[in-house]
Amino acid sequence: MTVTIVGSQLGDEGKGGVVDVYGDAADVVARYQGGDNAGHTVVHDGKKYKLSLVPSGAVRGKIGVLGNGCVVNPETLFDEIDTLRERGLEPDVRVAERAHVILPYHRALDGIEEAEKEDLAAGTTKRGIGPTYEDKAGRRGVRIGDLLDPDVLRERLEYVVPQKKALAEEVFDKETGEAFDIDHLYETYREYGKRLEEEGMTVDCGTFLQERIDDGDNVMLEGAQGTSLDIDHGVYPYVTSSNPSSGGATVGTGLGPTVVGQGDVIGIVKAYLSRVGTGPLPTELGGVEDQTPDYDPEEGAGEDEEALATQIRDEGGEYGTVTGRPRRVGWLDMPMLRHATRANGFTGLAINHIDVLAGLDEVKVGHSYEFDGEEIFTVPPTTEQWGRCEATFKSFDGWPDVDWAEVADNGYEAIPENARTYLEYISDELDTPIYAVGVGPGRGETVIVENPYE
Ligand code: GDP
Ligand code: IMO
Ligand code: MG
Repeated sequence: MTVTIVGSQLGDEGKGGVVDVYGDAADVVARYQGGDNAGHTVVHDGKKYKLSLVPSGAVRGKIGVLGNGCVVNPETLFDEIDTLRERGLEPDVRVAERAHVILPYHRALDGIEEAEKEDLAAGTTKRGIGPTYEDKAGRRGVRIGDLLDPDVLRERLEYVVPQKKALAEEVFDKETGEAFDIDHLYETYREYGKRLEEEGMTVDCGTFLQERIDDGDNVMLEGAQGTSLDIDHGVYPYVTSSNPSSGGATVGTGLGPTVVGQGDVIGIVKAYLSRVGTGPLPTELGGVEDQTPDYDPEEGAGEDEEALATQIRDEGGEYGTVTGRPRRVGWLDMPMLRHATRANGFTGLAINHIDVLAGLDEVKVGHSYEFDGEEIFTVPPTTEQWGRCEATFKSFDGWPDVDWAEVADNGYEAIPENARTYLEYISDELDTPIYAVGVGPGRGETVIVENPYE
């Protein structure tokens, strides 16, 4: 059976930690979209692992698969595998032959296009994600399987590279170097192909996973990013270029929707909001220069609000795992979560970071929006409309800071009462049961209410 883990907001909800907790019962952990734009922190045996491509489960000795819906930068992949090996682990990572390869020109073009876009820039991670998915849809991409076949690789590069070079030089007026050189690319990427082959890393993802399921194995499908970053269901154009939502778990692995639908789909919720990048955020607290739309760093959002934002940002360590950028923060946004619950069909929720809010007198939630004089309960379809929404807040009494590791040991009832009231409000509004509550970053700091594999 499968269990699917999906970010319900804007990424960094603590998916990696939940995959780690539930992953114990899984035999295989497969990612179904995204690439090294993701950043997961997994704490294991007191050691912190920051992974962007290798599925989090690989730290725990599971087979990690990068599905066909992923975009793979082989340089990052082998760097991470080598680092994990240096730290004494033996990650078993397989890559779908149908997954697309991020090439150096994709990364170069990501940077060039972001600079060019100005107000339309999403604040990407500049990992080449968008340009690679563009080439996939444009049917000019290079796939992992192509790296294993010298003739096909050369043919693909000879077709596409002159176009990319012309785009960079003639449209964007930029100089190009070896990132746009066919021979250099061919040689470097053939080497990656040989290593993938030598280490027996490539798979036909759907067949591989289905066979494991038929043999009775537990498969975890690990989403990266979050639903509001989904290219179809998110805050377009300030989104990533793939489908983090649960539909992506089927097309991005080759398992049928009826197979994925037999298992749980767990929405990972951060108890407040964080956001790396631009776009509207009606419940935002304070602001971050170059990310918050129309933010004036001189004026700020008022001293109290900026102080509260800084407190949450620092307590929650809200600085990007991949880029180190300060993340924007805000109160929980229920319209965003109602939208995510519908789009993903969540069967359970894991709500993280309630410890970060501990000690505040009051915790607020954006319960609904006021939009053109009306109260609405979910997000409107266009981003311009979303930008006009004003949050209507509900207020909750705060809860004290306690020994959270002890709470995790003693179970749900040990969570401070006011925090439980907050959690139950979320669960009731979304009509979805709570499966887990994150009370700290460590592996032992999760209250497990329900185990989807039992
Ligand atoms: P992901 O991208 O969704 O996998 O999340 P990240 O790993 O990028 O960001 C989540 C961060 O919060 C990591 O540093 C986690 O260790 C940490 N974290 C996860 N759950 C909790 C929690 O319940 N409380 C606290 N304080 N930190 C958490
Ligand atoms: P994890 O898996 C948070 C954001 C970027 C940008 C937009 C597009 O750690 O939750 P991209 O490089 O994908 O083209 O950038 O998406 N973004 C993330 N934000 N967590 C992530 O991943 C993200 N991956 C991309 O900041 O706004
Ligand atoms: Mg992350």
